[in-house]
Amino acid sequence: MQAVPPGFPDAIVRWQKKHGRNSLPWQNTRDPYRVWLSEIMLQQTQVVTVLDYYARFLQRFPTVGDLAAAAQDEVLALWSGLGYYSRARNLHRCAQEVMACHGGQFPRTAEQLQTLPGIGRSTAAAIASFCFAERVAILDGNVKRVLTRVLGFSADLAQSAHERQLWALAAHMLPKRQLADAMPRYTQGLMDLGATICSLRQPQCAVCPVQAMCQGLRTGEPEKYPVKTRKLKRSSQALSLLWAQRPDGSVWLERRATPGIWGGLYCLPVFDSEADLCAALPQRLRARLEPLQPFVHVLTHKDLYLSPVLVGFSEKQAMPSALSKPAFGGAWFGPQTWPELGLPAPIRKLLMQGRIS
Ligand code: ADE
Repeated sequence: MQAVPPGFPDAIVRWQKKHGRNSLPWQNTRDPYRVWLSEIMLQQTQVVTVLDYYARFLQRFPTVGDLAAAAQDEVLALWSGLGYYSRARNLHRCAQEVMACHGGQFPRTAEQLQTLPGIGRSTAAAIASFCFAERVAILDGNVKRVLTRVLGFSADLAQSAHERQLWALAAHMLPKRQLADAMPRYTQGLMDLGATICSLRQPQCAVCPVQAMCQGLRTGEPEKYPVKTRKLKRSSQALSLLWAQRPDGSVWLERRATPGIWGGLYCLPVFDSEADLCAALPQRLRARLEPLQPFVHVLTHKDLYLSPVLVGFSEKQAMPSALSKPAFGGAWFGPQTWPELGLPAPIRKLLMQGRIS
């Protein structure tokens, strides 16, 4: 591995000004509430997907106080479809903590921001550099790729000592001058470079602003970086879903426990198998079960094989006691009400297909 290239931060800053993204809705503001909201939404989610959600959140919650005062259900409902719902729960908790412990103002340093729910080291640094021009390094997945390539950093990032080393190098590479302008631009520039030119496969080195100082390019195999041996272990799970529906389109939904898959969201009752689902119902209902087309929903770590089973209830027919225990938090939700709830994306999609309005 080579030494930190001295011209690196200036090249990134200059390139960002001319070729980077400069008119996204969360840019051209130093309001930490807006920047924080965007950074949380942008974790594991593409810019194009975030745009609509970001606008809706800001319209409904113009300030951190508005978000803190909302019911968690409403926050989850607005988040519905963005996935990784722990982000939404932490977002809400974070807003409440800013109100309760920081007088409604976000702290101004990465170190303090990191103490808040859902704000990790890199996100804290992004907020502090964008809003307060703090000289502090970010290191998300895209930026790891850029820096390991430029540095020719081939140590295995699966080992935490190597990851710490890369953090230290990232700090060494930061701009040293005119920080008020350079820090936000540098941070955005690294993100932009990682998202566009320095892509995972087939990076566009010919148009890269730091090609002349890139060790990855010099070796001829920039795609080799970053090195991380521990592979994500994917698993799969089969679940049966009880779709109980009344003639007016009301459906029976339960609030899922946290922690756990879809924690805090409303969902059809979930069973490990169709046999378990049947066992939860009295005989007279078992005869009316209508298995629907199973489908697969792909999560980051898991493939979910979902098998919905429809059962028509009559207008006033109650849910059997085995399924309506208060601990499950279940209830009938009318066709105007359930679309407003926080529902897992595949459940929303399924219900929309059979919607009676
Ligand atoms: N991904 C994470 N933060 C981002 C930002 N500020 N702009 C674009 N993409 C991002």
